Amino acid sequence: MAKFHKHILVCTHERAPGNSRGCCKHSLSEDVLLAFKQQIIEMGLQRKVRANQSGCLDQCSKGPVVVVYPDAVWYGGVRPEHVSEIMRQHILGDEAVEHLQIPDEDLTGIPLDNPAE
Ligand code: FES
Repeated sequence: MAKFHKHILVCTHERAPGNSRGCCKHSLSEDVLLAFKQQIIEMGLQRKVRANQSGCLDQCSKGPVVVVYPDAVWYGGVRPEHVSEIMRQHILGDEAVEHLQIPDEDLTGIPLDNPAE
């Protein structure tokens, strides 16, 4: 199995219309995932970079949510038109795209200081 240099997770979780938590699928996260997959192919990065759909990442109000590992950089409000910037600056350039990042202190539901909780 390939060991990927970067792994891009795109939340495509769906909730029923009207659910108060909302969901990334209704903010067109599948288009974001498709844009990542297309750019990975266009850039010839299939053996180094992988984009996968994920279930809910518990940041639903900030969707579409994307996480890049191993960097553990979280992005919110990602649109297909942002994908080129993330690919160029972060995936190729190793520099997170600051204006799309969800700051660590804004990540909800993740016990950053005490993972055991
Ligand atoms: S539905 Fe995408 S983070 Fe929860």
